[in-house]
Amino acid sequence: MRRLLVTGGAGFIGSNFVRYWINRYPDDRVVNLDALTYAGNLESLQAIETAPGYRFVPGDITDRECVDRLFAEEAIDTVVNFAAESHVDRSILGPDAFISTNIHGTFTLLEAATAAWQDASQEQRFLQVSTDEVYGSLAPDAPAFTESHAYAPNSPYSASKAASDHLVRAWHETYGLPVLTTNCSNNYGPYQFPEKLIPLVILNALEGKPIPVYGDGMNIRDWLYVDDHCSGIDAVLQGGRPGDVFNIGGINEWRNIDIVRLICERLDELRPGTGSYQDLITFVTDRPGHDRRYAIDATRMRADLGWQPAHDFETGIEATLQWYLANLDWCDRVRSGEYKNYYQNQYGERTPIP
Ligand code: NAD
Ligand code: DAU
Repeated sequence: MRRLLVTGGAGFIGSNFVRYWINRYPDDRVVNLDALTYAGNLESLQAIETAPGYRFVPGDITDRECVDRLFAEEAIDTVVNFAAESHVDRSILGPDAFISTNIHGTFTLLEAATAAWQDASQEQRFLQVSTDEVYGSLAPDAPAFTESHAYAPNSPYSASKAASDHLVRAWHETYGLPVLTTNCSNNYGPYQFPEKLIPLVILNALEGKPIPVYGDGMNIRDWLYVDDHCSGIDAVLQGGRPGDVFNIGGINEWRNIDIVRLICERLDELRPGTGSYQDLITFVTDRPGHDRRYAIDATRMRADLGWQPAHDFETGIEATLQWYLANLDWCDRVRSGEYKNYYQNQYGERTPIP
């Protein structure tokens, strides 16, 4: 039986992970520490909130006292650190929160775990959930990112994640903390906050708003269904050795414009309007420092841990579309006043490219 501290468990991937874990390992203890920023929603956890092993704690990962108390009260043996500011565009508008949560927050968790885990008799693990964005941008024909690819972050978000990954590594090398790091590609699926590309396209299409595509729309991302990320983290917790790093990805590269068109085509069938939703596509000023291409080489996940994604893009995107269509009220509730201000700042002055 494991005793997990899951941070950021009310966000997109964290809430999917908490549900995944409780359904799969109902005897485990899962303590979810989340500051409930604009991106955190307890509604995403309704399905498991009364599960016997589950506890939600509102709190900040930069709050050392709070984190220490949880380690002591709950005899935590496993940390899965999802808590982060996660949106690149927000990091460009205001990097402060990214430095605080992503760097100082991770530092606080590392210090607390090092202090709490003096007795190494138990099987303890600190898993840092990181991103492929730390590796920077790939040329069109360059091989996909392996675990030994040099870090070259280009946005305040990815720089803050890179910094936290380095701290995690250093706490292993210096203090012997049993850490694991996963660098994952773009996730999609239920409960993703509608500021990110896929849900933003779905909702703008249904609401008849312009669908903003940055630059020429030819940037490439490697998309993974969120449940597959959860099973990947599970595999790393079971089979990874302290200090290991694993790249997790879908082997599923798409140009942004092709994803946007695919979603529009499918919505034309599922929710036909007067014209095609593709008529709403609007090319707008590019994201500064916009990485051209990400691609993950997940060979180590497959070879060492026997992991591979269970969903292909066709089934994953269909499940995602169906989920958003059935949960438009969730989308309305999470897009609070704060989100409306952000949307105006991000897109209000963005010049359409003719
Ligand atoms: P998200 O923005 O949806 O959720 C982040 C969660 O962290 C929210 O619940 C928020 O309330 C919480 N949080 C923020 N600051 C906090 C703080 N100081 N203390 C406690 N809780 C805090 O993010 P996500 O997309 O679910 O990403 C989760 C993690 O996975 C992040 O670390 C991100 O870097 C990483 N990641 C994301 C993707 C992706 O495609 N979304 C891919 C690879 C890695
Ligand atoms: O690669 C993993 C990363 O994926 C995670 O670390 C991040 O937390 C997560 O947000 C995601 O980052 P991206 O910047 O790739 O995701 P986003 O959904 O913001 O954008 C995907 C692509 O779509 C990117 O090339 C920018 C483009 N885009 C995005 C938005 C929001 C647009 O063209 N228009 C938009 O309005």
